[in-house]
Amino acid sequence: MDVRIVTSSYSLLYAWLLFTLLLGHTLGERSTYIVHMDKSVMPETFASHQDWYSAILSSLTDAGPTVSAVVRSVSRVLYSYDNAIHGFSVVLSLDELQTLQQSHGFISAYPDRIVKHDTTHTLEFLSLNNVTGLWPASHYGEDVIVGVIDTGVWPESDSFKDDGMGEIPARWKGLSRTSMNSTRDTEGHGTHTSSTAAGNYVEGVSFFGYAEGTARGVAPRARVAMYKVLWDEGGYASDILAGIDQAIADGVDVISISMGLDGVTLYQDPIAIASFAAMEKGILFSSSAGNDGPELGTLHNGVPWLLTSGASTIDRLFAGTVTLGNGLTIVGYSLFPQSALIENMPLIYNETLLACDSSALLSENTYGIVICKGNGSIFRQMRQISVSKISGAIILSNDSFSIDVADFSSPVVMIDPSHASAVINYAKSSPSSTVSMIFQQTLLGTKPAPAVAVYTSRGPSPSYPGILKPDLMAPGSRVLAAWAPNVPAAEIGSGLLLSSDYNIISGTSMACPHSSGVAALLKAAHPEWSPAAIRSAMMTTADPWDNTLNPIRDNGYDLKPATPLAMGSGQVNPNRALDPGLIYDAAAQDYVNLLCSMNYTREQIITITRSSNYSCSNPSSDLNYPSFISFFSNTTSTSQEFRRTVTNVGDGASAYKPRIIAPTGSSVTISPTTLVFKEKFEKQSFSITISYSGQNKGEVSYGSLMWVDEGRRRTVRSPIVVIME
Ligand SMILES: *[C@@H]1O[C@H](CO)[C@@H](O)[C@H](O)[C@H]1NC(C)=O
Ligand SMILES: *[C@@H]1O[C@H](CO)[C@@H](O)[C@H](O)[C@H]1NC(C)=O
Ligand SMILES: *[C@@H]1O[C@H](CO)[C@@H](O)[C@H](O)[C@H]1NC(C)=O
Ligand SMILES: *[C@@H]1O[C@H](CO)[C@@H](O)[C@H](O)[C@H]1NC(C)=O
Ligand SMILES: *[C@@H]1O[C@H](CO)[C@@H](O)[C@H](O)[C@H]1NC(C)=O
Ligand SMILES: *[C@@H]1O[C@H](CO)[C@@H](O)[C@H](O)[C@H]1NC(C)=O
Ligand SMILES: *[C@@H]1O[C@H](CO)[C@@H](O)[C@H](O)[C@H]1NC(C)=O
Ligand SMILES: *[C@@H]1O[C@H](CO)[C@@H](O)[C@H](O)[C@H]1NC(C)=O
Repeated sequence: MDVRIVTSSYSLLYAWLLFTLLLGHTLGERSTYIVHMDKSVMPETFASHQDWYSAILSSLTDAGPTVSAVVRSVSRVLYSYDNAIHGFSVVLSLDELQTLQQSHGFISAYPDRIVKHDTTHTLEFLSLNNVTGLWPASHYGEDVIVGVIDTGVWPESDSFKDDGMGEIPARWKGLSRTSMNSTRDTEGHGTHTSSTAAGNYVEGVSFFGYAEGTARGVAPRARVAMYKVLWDEGGYASDILAGIDQAIADGVDVISISMGLDGVTLYQDPIAIASFAAMEKGILFSSSAGNDGPELGTLHNGVPWLLTSGASTIDRLFAGTVTLGNGLTIVGYSLFPQSALIENMPLIYNETLLACDSSALLSENTYGIVICKGNGSIFRQMRQISVSKISGAIILSNDSFSIDVADFSSPVVMIDPSHASAVINYAKSSPSSTVSMIFQQTLLGTKPAPAVAVYTSRGPSPSYPGILKPDLMAPGSRVLAAWAPNVPAAEIGSGLLLSSDYNIISGTSMACPHSSGVAALLKAAHPEWSPAAIRSAMMTTADPWDNTLNPIRDNGYDLKPATPLAMGSGQVNPNRALDPGLIYDAAAQDYVNLLCSMNYTREQIITITRSSNYSCSNPSSDLNYPSFISFFSNTTSTSQEFRRTVTNVGDGASAYKPRIIAPTGSSVTISPTTLVFKEKFEKQSFSITISYSGQNKGEVSYGSLMWVDEGRRRTVRSPIVVIME
């Protein structure tokens, strides 16, 4: 069977049930642990790593009162891993854990953790087209396999049809049939993210009349392999490790994971650990920054060897139009999923109702449209309006978080507060003032766009602040993609649930698969590029400008210019990434040098690298990364030098000169000031020194280094961030 989706599934639930049945009440103080082992010291007497792990577990002494040790040691291993990590996840008591820690080959163990996931015009907005640039150059991602680690997929979705696809690539080692029940998406999230990365062409789709058009993924000819690791019961680190372990074994080219763990160190973060193994295998690992913005330092997946995407808005507005009885017409924001008939209805202005926070008060008016002042509690207002008897509402608000994520369960249009006096004055002018409203409109080309989404999590990365994260941003707000039709796509009134094959949702979860799709296209166009090279190409060509040609703004900070802590290098630009000119490459040993420069123990480092085969003889925090972040404080040095090596990936000879914008309060020097390349793949090194000369405590300033080639055809831009601690 030649199907488009190849699936595998991992269920903690099944193993857990089995274990519970076998052990009954004896499981008292036991917990699940993820255990890392040094496979290089496995005695030769064992035929396989599973045998070795079983023998070690059987030898643990703390036998339960009713069950034999052998049965228990078999039943309580949830997974054994061999690609993402060497080791297993297992249910243990504290005593058993202590015994295990004395075993030969033991590296480290930590408790399993609950993982949270971050919840199509976007492609035109990114300038992807059939005529020029990355789509034709990559054959739309043909033969590239994107492994999506998520909630599963809705296999019957038109977005996963095989139409126009060739044979499954011969190097694919995974399952070749769809296992319908095990990987079925019961949440919608995985169907949405996987169709965003690599959905096929589907004409004439919309979300209840909004965003009408042709749906397709960023890499529409790429293959999707879905690894279901999130279940209705929750998501666990052990399941995620199992999914990534299998994806690596199957031979995927790109791994896309729209979820992350907050507040964990690198050596206990399953995504950081598994992505190291993926990176070694040449797999680009793409992840989401999280939805905990706009505060700084909230980002997850700030891991030096993977790609971290923040979320942006696009140039599209889902609109409702309000026409007052006096003829004034105002276009506002709405996603109400029906064509409500609202013609010349009473327009109600009543001071008592302005907060719109009491369904009882609202219900005293049944026929009419009430005016509400948005004050940041629009979710609550929307709810109160929906459960009341009022016909609908105009909410005076420009709250961009609501514009990005609020559900419209009643006929409501949000209009900008700049229109407040016109609307209110007209409403007050006569007791018989009226209003008409139209829904299901979509406006394109709105400005400014992109902007940084309010919710996107910001750097610096708590798990490793020394690398600037996120790396870049991609469309995440109000993205249309495929959906599971048995999961509600919208609700109207108080509890009427609506089904749809396509849904519009927001989050860095939606940004991540855009980046994964671009990476898949680049992999198809440049099969020789390493994961670091692909990331570098995407970062150094990202746009720091919006469609008004001004610096990208931040919706989380009153539309002030966005800092790289919010958007990284800027908005991903796929067509420019095809031909970046220079790349900043890095290999596994470079990341090991970085790990060796941290205050990690040998065990903590091997937990990530899986092998003691790497050398720690050259520790260095100066990773060859296409961005710069410096922390200065009163007591430390006042300058920092970075050394970088760039590889010419343009055809033939070229010469580049730097253009520097120094962060406020800092000076930047660079040497040499010309990079000359005689041929393709030649490398040149330079050093850049950032000197701090005065800034307030806690202040973040930023600038950039841009290498410009003589023909001015290519620019290779890196953001610079200076933080005064
Ligand atoms: C672009 O190419 C795809 C696939 O070949 C095709 O389905 C689509 O209609 C084309 N779009 C345009 C605007 O030509
Ligand atoms: C899938 O689940 C349904 C209902 O639970 C069942 O009837 C069917 O046999 C299952 N199919 C497979 C392939 O397991
Ligand atoms: C905003 O709404 C809340 C909850 O409805 C209310 O308690 C508060 O007084 C309102 N604030 C303003 C400034 O209107
Ligand atoms: C305003 O609304 C309140 C609550 O529904 C109602 O008691 C009051 O009569 C209204 N005022 C006017 C002028 O209609
Ligand atoms: C939103 O409206 C307020 C007035 O209520 C205004 O001060 C603010 O600048 C507006 N913000 C945006 C982003 O338009
Ligand atoms: C590592 O430990 C040393 C000594 O305890 C300390 O001076 C240094 O700041 C630490 N470095 C980091 C990156 O935590
Ligand atoms: C260790 O690394 C060396 C050099 O990279 C390689 O040749 C060797 O095969 C590696 N050994 C193991 C056991 O991975
Ligand atoms: C150094 O720190 C002290 C105390 O925090 C502060 O008063 C002073 O202004 C700082 N100096 C500089 C140069 O930032």
